[in-house]
Amino acid sequence: MKKLITILGFAGSLRKDSYNKALLRAAVELKPKDAELEIFSIDGIPLFNQDLEAHVPEKVKQFKAKIKAADAILIATPEYNYSMPGVLKNAIDWASRPYGDNSFEDKPVAIMGASPGIFGTARAQYHLRQTCAFLNMHTVNKPEVFVTFAHTKIDENGRVTDEETREKIKQLLESLVSWTRRLETRGHTQG
Ligand code: FNR
Repeated sequence: MKKLITILGFAGSLRKDSYNKALLRAAVELKPKDAELEIFSIDGIPLFNQDLEAHVPEKVKQFKAKIKAADAILIATPEYNYSMPGVLKNAIDWASRPYGDNSFEDKPVAIMGASPGIFGTARAQYHLRQTCAFLNMHTVNKPEVFVTFAHTKIDENGRVTDEETREKIKQLLESLVSWTRRLETRGHTQG
């Protein structure tokens, strides 16, 4: 039997009714059977201050431990001013530190995002991909999941109702799982 692939997912929004949190919930429903997806909330991660690196906050310790334990990472990013939100960058910065202890090192990662606008977080996702490159993560290239006009595809209960969007999320999770298996076979990841 195939080993279960464990995925840690997080969204770059603290908003209760976040469209990006809705994408993650849909991903839990749509993931392949040979994968587990745990959602982590970045709410409560303090602002990064390099002076605090010697006394890492408890929430950051939890975040780093969960990232390290996971075989793969899934990030749902909103777009703020053509980039990823500060809360997401802040959480990533914490998990990448201290120097020499980057929790994301060698991890496969898939990215998706939702916005009420016409580009569906495309610009933010490309900034996030750049950050993932520095972190030595292995980003899934396709499919790209840009959820445009999110308010028409996610209902008032926070459920992704649009079938095309659900299919894209399903494909992204399938790609992430097969990408993770490929990397493990070739001995690239630590999993
Ligand atoms: C936005 N929003 C936005 N949308 C977009 O498509 N491109 C953008 O550059 C921006 N910029 C931006 C800046 C700031 C400060 C805010 C608060 C919002 C709108 C954004 O997509 C919308 O608020 C989403 O609902 C945010 O994602 P969540 O919280 O629903 O996951």
